[in-house]
Amino acid sequence: MEIWAKRFTKMALIYLALGVVMGMVIGSQPEWSQRLRFVHIHLNLLGFMTMFIAGVAYHVLPRFNARPVPWPDGVKYHFLLHNTGLLGMATTHLAGGLWSGGLLHVAFVMFAVMTGAGLLIMAYNLYSVMIPVKEGTEVKEITGGMKVGDVLDQFPASLQIFIDAGFHSLSNPVARKAFASVVTIQKACEKHEVELGGFLKQLNSALFSKSGRPGQSGKPPAQASDGKEEAPVGVAMGKGKPCTRDTMVGSLIKIHPETKTVFEKHYGEGCFSCPGQVYETVEQTAHMHNIDPELILKEINAMIGK
Ligand code: HEM
Ligand code: HEM
Repeated sequence: MEIWAKRFTKMALIYLALGVVMGMVIGSQPEWSQRLRFVHIHLNLLGFMTMFIAGVAYHVLPRFNARPVPWPDGVKYHFLLHNTGLLGMATTHLAGGLWSGGLLHVAFVMFAVMTGAGLLIMAYNLYSVMIPVKEGTEVKEITGGMKVGDVLDQFPASLQIFIDAGFHSLSNPVARKAFASVVTIQKACEKHEVELGGFLKQLNSALFSKSGRPGQSGKPPAQASDGKEEAPVGVAMGKGKPCTRDTMVGSLIKIHPETKTVFEKHYGEGCFSCPGQVYETVEQTAHMHNIDPELILKEINAMIGK
């Protein structure tokens, strides 16, 4: 689980504890209800429930839709705004901020706006993950006229290919943000004196396999037009054979259960609770987790070799 998804889930459980204690206080001292009711309700619903949903959704939805959130930093901002806003609202409300008017009321509204902004960021990020890629808009080939930033967004693993080819400034996230969204591959090649044709060839062969199946995008097997899943695109692991990019993880684990540790090391312990692991290929799972497939293959084959 990524750090911010984990933090959301942990904070949710802390709010649950606080909310429940507050509920018990109201239960035993009903005369405090007017003051504590808002805080009890919002610690439980806005703290525990909404944050728990956020943590789980940030972890699960991008994986199951094979689409990263469009604004990864937004998850961090959501966390900070949601927590600061909720704790600020709770404190100012306890101090009478909703009714007192004056500065306390202004502070309450300010914290309410912060919380709302955090929730809007969450809505934007998660809604975008749920929008299916439109038929025909899927990139089948990288061309010189495409913006570097668009290619990096759609194929996160292409970053390493750019850097290896000489676009070293892209390893700096600030430079990446500033230039990649406006500069085309052609212009970037001219600036860095990289031969355009050769680089495009290298990029396309790394990103798309011969079958035309997207490689680095990490998309799961396509759906047939009748809505049923098509036959798996990978190949089954053969006994005594090396593991390749196209080997289905499920078949590999059946023959070499010891290789599970490689996936768990790179993808996290929860990897094998994901239904995708049975039919996805080593390459697809690696790209889904933004890891170079060659790294995984090297470790797996070394283990099998032993
Ligand atoms: C042991 C745990 C809990 C206790 C003792 C407790 C106690 C209470 C009490 C005494 C009230 C009435 C407040 C009033 O009328 O002023 C109340 C209201 C409420 N509680 Fe809890 N609560 C607990 C857990 C939760 C949890 C886990 C949630 C949500 C996830 C929750 C959500 C609410 C809501 C939404 C209301 C307002 C209901 C309404 O508008 O009538 N409570 N709770
Ligand atoms: C930016 C976020 C939010 C703000 C600023 C906010 C603010 C408020 C305010 C000012 C009230 C009236 C309190 C009173 O009359 O004393 C209220 C009531 C309530 N809110 Fe929220 N809220 C937010 C999010 C949520 C969310 C996400 C939930 C549920 C998931 C929720 C559930 C409730 C409930 C159930 C009540 C009624 C409480 C009652 O019966 O007295 N709120 N909220």
